[in-house]
Amino acid sequence: MDVMEAIKKRRTIRRFQQKPIPFDILKELIEAARFAPSGGNLQPWEFLVIDDKNLLEPVFSTLAWAAYLGPEGQPKEGEKPVAYIVVLHNKKVKAFTPEADFGAAIENILLAATDKGIGSCWIGSVQREKLSKILGIPADYSIEYVIALGYPAEQAIAEDEKGSLKYWRDENSVHHVPKRKLQCILHHNKLGLDKNKKDD
Ligand SMILES: Cc1cc2nc3c(=O)[nH]c(=O)nc-3n(C[C@H](O)[C@H](O)[C@H](O)COP(=O)(O)O)c2cc1C
Repeated sequence: MDVMEAIKKRRTIRRFQQKPIPFDILKELIEAARFAPSGGNLQPWEFLVIDDKNLLEPVFSTLAWAAYLGPEGQPKEGEKPVAYIVVLHNKKVKAFTPEADFGAAIENILLAATDKGIGSCWIGSVQREKLSKILGIPADYSIEYVIALGYPAEQAIAEDEKGSLKYWRDENSVHHVPKRKLQCILHHNKLGLDKNKKDD
């Protein structure tokens, strides 16, 4: 898949087919993360891949989903993720720009997943202490984010925003993600401050 195609096709997916993802494919997602840019090239990341059936439910219990949608946003039985990547900061590495580094690595993972037909959800609402206990994460590691994975069981589409940035689901359960229009975020040589008004 062409890079721009993957960027535009990638959408957060929160409902998944109950079909396992082969470990070799999960490994390739980490390979994509490995090549991400990193401030000072310090690469503070490590990745714990979870696909053991006995761990999936305990990990799920630490995550929150789609705040704008309320309980409807949470995957139901039969549509929960089939794997997770727990993104860890090895705190022995004193990174210059950890947040940016993790963002870059995670986006590489999400794009590589899209290329392989795998849906993903980058999750920041994590009960980190509880998850650390479940997974036995030592104190010199912190959990940054969790990425939920699985083959998609829902349709999600991006569209130009029309007055709200809140994602929503239509009557057919299609998930809509408003994106700011190009003319609202692109400046050329000088900052055009009336852009947002002009764009109604
Ligand atoms: C840093 C970060 C944290 C996020 N945390 C959550 C989360 O806790 N739960 C969730 O369901 N989605 C989470 N998301 C997914 C966003 O809701 C999603 O990216 C956004 O709605 C835009 O949709 P898109 O990814 O399809 O473009 C997070 C995304 C980012 C970048």
